[in-house]
Amino acid sequence: MKTYIVGNWKMNFTVGESSLYLHKLLGKIHSYRDIEVVVAPSLMALQSLSLQTDRRKIKLACQNFYYKDFGAYTGEVSVAQLRSLVDYAIVGHSERRYIFNETDKDIKMKVASALRGGLTPILCVGETESERTFGETVDVIRDQLLGGLSDVAKEDVSKVIVAYEPVWAISGHGKPARVASPLDVADALKIIRNILKETFGPKIASETPLLFGGSVRSLNAESYLSIGDCNGLLIGGASLIAPEFTDIIEIAKRVKNDRNY
Ligand code: PGA
Repeated sequence: MKTYIVGNWKMNFTVGESSLYLHKLLGKIHSYRDIEVVVAPSLMALQSLSLQTDRRKIKLACQNFYYKDFGAYTGEVSVAQLRSLVDYAIVGHSERRYIFNETDKDIKMKVASALRGGLTPILCVGETESERTFGETVDVIRDQLLGGLSDVAKEDVSKVIVAYEPVWAISGHGKPARVASPLDVADALKIIRNILKETFGPKIASETPLLFGGSVRSLNAESYLSIGDCNGLLIGGASLIAPEFTDIIEIAKRVKNDRNY
């Protein structure tokens, strides 16, 4: 399986800045067959960046979309409108769940809609700090994971990428985030792998890529990428800094090579 390095730019960079930044990244990144690099710029920038990018080096993702194809949905954009621009779609990010009140129903509709339209959904799941304190981590992960996949045909489950993103480890929300230990991440990824196995069988479970996200930096990337169940990283803040993001890609390549020997 490939290693996925996904940069979520969130609501940062103007269209011009996005283009300059992509230009810089394209100049620094090597194209590796076993490393899939994806960035999710703002919706505004997708059209121009899709023309600018070299998809062998960097593919694009959208950060959000609506699950209907066309119609009277003011302010929304659909997979049908995005599919020529992006290959991936982030779904169920905690900022969408908790700031924009996205429901489990919205999320399952979006996962199914992305797949129908030929995009690879990156389904984010993860517990909040208080859910973790109250020992609800496994239940939350199970509910969000199986809820998000509930409209997906069994044979399509491994086309979904699952990102474990504990809300307490995500930076940029005022209070400094707590950095997840590799042990915490290994436990959570194992839980996800096991739920997939119990529900869909061992083959699908082993073929579904699992990512980790939450305060990933070049300094800690290797510790997460070395976890057996970790197939990549979803990176917010550090993806906005070219040397950080490119270092993480090189680390992913090195870990991949080490694993293959
Ligand atoms: P962070 O964000 O790396 O800035 O913590 C991760 C994410 O929200 O995907």
